[in-house]
Amino acid sequence: MAPNTQVLTICLSRIGDVCRMRMYDIILKKREGRELTTGEIKHFIAGYTAGDIPDYQASALLMTIYFQGLSDRETVDLTMAMSDSGERAALSAIPGIKVDKHSTGGVGDKTTLVLVPLVAAAGVPVAKMSGRGLGHTGGTVDKLESIPGFKAELEHGKFIEQVSMTGAAVVTQTGHLAPADKKLYALRDVTATVDSIPLIAGSIMSKKIAAGADAIVLDVKVGNGAFMRDIESSFKLARTMVSIGNLAGRRTVALVTGMDQPLGYAVGNALEVKEAVETLRGRGPGDLVELCMALGSVMLLLAGKAGNLETGRKILSDLLVSGKALEKFKDLIAAQEGDPRVTMEDGFLPVATIIEDVPASYTGYVQAVHAGKIGRAAMLLGAGREKKDSPIDLSAGIVLRKKAGDRVVAGETTAVMHTGDKQNLTAIKKIIQKAYEIGEKKPELQPLIYGMVPESL
Ligand code: URA
Repeated sequence: MAPNTQVLTICLSRIGDVCRMRMYDIILKKREGRELTTGEIKHFIAGYTAGDIPDYQASALLMTIYFQGLSDRETVDLTMAMSDSGERAALSAIPGIKVDKHSTGGVGDKTTLVLVPLVAAAGVPVAKMSGRGLGHTGGTVDKLESIPGFKAELEHGKFIEQVSMTGAAVVTQTGHLAPADKKLYALRDVTATVDSIPLIAGSIMSKKIAAGADAIVLDVKVGNGAFMRDIESSFKLARTMVSIGNLAGRRTVALVTGMDQPLGYAVGNALEVKEAVETLRGRGPGDLVELCMALGSVMLLLAGKAGNLETGRKILSDLLVSGKALEKFKDLIAAQEGDPRVTMEDGFLPVATIIEDVPASYTGYVQAVHAGKIGRAAMLLGAGREKKDSPIDLSAGIVLRKKAGDRVVAGETTAVMHTGDKQNLTAIKKIIQKAYEIGEKKPELQPLIYGMVPESL
């Protein structure tokens, strides 16, 4: 039986009215730039998740969406259909307003490692589901798994119990949440349809909505190390996600933040955990601390723990100074069977066998440290995965010694490579040297935070 006939037959027995729909007609309608109905979008998502709609038709629709776009209403329908395609995490047993945080991803972005214990120490329960990474370095789960013994695969009941007892938990996202997105994201990855604003917004928000938090704070990155390369598109993505979140009944706010150079100095899993611990000790790099304050204060505001952003910042900086945020990280690690000594002293995180300096090629001021190139170099050193199943070296990565605005002399160390693999070191060193743009004048620095998209309720 031809696949369309098969879908039609299954449909007829299952969904009554929707049955007259055919994927061919849906693709054609979108190709002609017409708006799809809620029913057509539901038909596509339900049929694709069930395996009734083949990849070639789903790919064709994704490509037409890539070129024709989706209206706001279609984007919300797509998000809700994907969110409804699987289970919803039930967080209601955890008392209090649960606030989630999501970053669209960047190089050296370890804010989740800092924010989860910091915000939890302020009394906001954080039930965080996170992913393993593809690309530059691992995701938050990979970073945490560089802590010896740390377990991120918690059964749901245990997850809820830990958040209720400790105030925070970070676990791997189960495949049961938004399975439609999981399948479609994998297809987008191989059909050059990832960088479409409605598709990205729908993908991220379908998972956030299914993950069950009451409020969501989004960090939308812009720059050469991010999905979005220009400020206008980043704000558009941020506004689209905020409006979807609000329409789904979740208080949602976004910050648009810079990703032209890596955040902080460390890029790589264990290296980032070490920098996060330093930050929780009150000794973090300026940009990382500032971003954590900005995102964290919005989280406290939405959770009702601070009346305004200034008060939120004060609460958070007191928690860093008093050591309570670091103590919370220690509790979280211990609850998930990790070695809590990583929060106390050096020597408990994996260390690379090869550590080699990268000298500056010129004398002058660092104009820019190209985040995309540093990310690529970190991945080649073993810190990230080129393919979904590639192995990852948790000790590998790069520690920057110089960032934009710093003075450097030719031959001085700009960055340090950490790896377990001596192959390709010369080529990787060249990539890092190319990432450093050095010029005569002290540059004007790019802003870290471009703006906020408030709730649109
Ligand atoms: N992250 C997601 O989860 N989905 C996208 O489409 C892009 C980034």
